[in-house]
Amino acid sequence: MKIGSEAHKQLFCQSFMESHLKYEPEQLPWPKLDVAQLERLRGIPFWEEALNTESNAGFMLNAFAQKVNDPMLRDAIALQGMEESRHSRLIQFLIDHYGIDTKLHPPKPIPDRIESAFVEFGYGECFDSFFAFGLFAIARPSGLLPDQFFTIFDPVINEEARHMVFFVNWVAYKLVNEGRGAKALRDAHSLWNYTGALRNRLDSFKGEKKGSGQGFTASGAGAVTIDLTLENFLSTCIQENDRRMSVYDPRLLRPEFLPKVAKTAFGMIKLLPKRNPSTVESPNLG
Ligand SMILES: [Fe+2]
Ligand SMILES: [Fe+2]
Repeated sequence: MKIGSEAHKQLFCQSFMESHLKYEPEQLPWPKLDVAQLERLRGIPFWEEALNTESNAGFMLNAFAQKVNDPMLRDAIALQGMEESRHSRLIQFLIDHYGIDTKLHPPKPIPDRIESAFVEFGYGECFDSFFAFGLFAIARPSGLLPDQFFTIFDPVINEEARHMVFFVNWVAYKLVNEGRGAKALRDAHSLWNYTGALRNRLDSFKGEKKGSGQGFTASGAGAVTIDLTLENFLSTCIQENDRRMSVYDPRLLRPEFLPKVAKTAFGMIKLLPKRNPSTVESPNLG
C-alpha cells in the first residue's frame, strides 16, 4: 500500500475509529486504597501536569478538527480530541476520588498555527509515551499500588499507543501530499521535531518552562523509586513499545525514530563494563 494514498488514509483513519473503546471514567472499578497506598498515590508528582496536559490537548484537538476539510481525517482527529478530554476527566475523577491536592488551570489559548501545534503535540506524545510504556511495566509488579489500578490505566496507555500510530501515519500522509514524502525528508521532519520535543522536556527539567504542560512522563520518573538501572529501563521501554505496537495492521507505519535511538543506546550501554552490583546506585532518571 502506497503511503500517502487514499487507501492509506482510509486504513489509518478507519482502524483508528474502529478501535475506539467506550468507557466512562466514573464507572470504572476504582480500587479502595489503604493509608500507605493513598500516601504513595498522593506523592506522585505528575497529576497536575497530566491533568492540564490532557485537558489542553482535548481543547486543541477539537479546535484543530474543526479546521480540517477532509471529513474522514476530521472525524478521526475529533475522536482523538474526545479521547484526550476523557483522559483529563479520568485524571480529574482520580484526583477527586482519592483526595489529591491539585487543580485544573484555565485552558491555554488555542494557538493560531493550530496544525503546527498538533504536530508538536503529536511528536511530544510519541516521546512521552515511549518512556511511559516502560515506566508502567516497571511500576506494575512493584506492588506499590493495587494491580486494579494498572488494569484501569492499561487501556489508557493503549489509547496513547493508538494516537501515536494515527499521528505518524497522518504526518506521513500529509508530507507525501505536500510533495515532501521522500523517506529522507520524512526522517528529517521526525529528527527536527523529536529534537524539539527533547529540548522542551530538558527545559522543563531545568524549570525554565515551569507549568508548561510538557513532559509529564519525565516528571513522573522520579516517583518510581524501585531499583532500576538505565539498561533495564531502556530494554523495558523497547520491549513494551514493540508489544503495544504489535497489535496494529502491519501496513500501518509506527513511530521508528525513538525506538531506533533507544535500541542503539541500549546496545552501547550493554557493552560498557559493569560495576560491582553492590556498589551500583539507583540511577536518577530525571
Ligand atoms: Fe491522552
Ligand atoms: Fe493521546
